[in-house]
Amino acid sequence: MSKLSCLLYLSVENETFDENKINSLILKSREQNLKANITGFLYYKQKHFFQYLEGNTNDLENLFLRLSNDPRHTILKYISDQNIEQRRFLHWSMGNLKTNELIQIKLEDVIIDYFKWMKTHEKKSNFNAWRLIEKLAYFKNKGHLSYTK
Ligand SMILES: Cc1cc2nc3c(=O)[nH]c(=O)nc-3n(C[C@H](O)[C@H](O)[C@H](O)COP(=O)(O)O)c2cc1C
Repeated sequence: MSKLSCLLYLSVENETFDENKINSLILKSREQNLKANITGFLYYKQKHFFQYLEGNTNDLENLFLRLSNDPRHTILKYISDQNIEQRRFLHWSMGNLKTNELIQIKLEDVIIDYFKWMKTHEKKSNFNAWRLIEKLAYFKNKGHLSYTK
């Protein structure tokens, strides 16, 4: 059985994205991720993308290669965990996190702080980033984050 990995990155847009563009990016990603059995979420805010991905190590590496070469954005920082026990975002071929829902669960500020943290810090401590992901997964499972486009 192949190993399950996850990856979290922050990137900056190289062209302007509006809501329509984000929605079609999400729809296309969902289509492709379903085939590769990749799950996760995307959050677009202040010209940045914050994306969490999980899947079989090989499939994830393939996707990350494509993401790294995608001229629409530039990846600033990523962290990965090559061996996770289970998926955190089961059934979410690509969730689209929404600011109003993140504000309700009081994680919007935390995510923006992470943007700054990811831009300035070295890879040293990944612990808090994964804790943030665990918190988001908790609220997803409680039904506080919706999966609609
Ligand atoms: C911010 C961002 C997030 C993306 N997320 C995904 C994704 O989750 N899954 C995916 O297949 N492609 C995603 N893409 C698109 C890939 O970078 C790439 O364009 C696409 O996978 C190419 O597929 P193709 O070569 O099969 O056409 C994303 C692109 C951007 C800019």
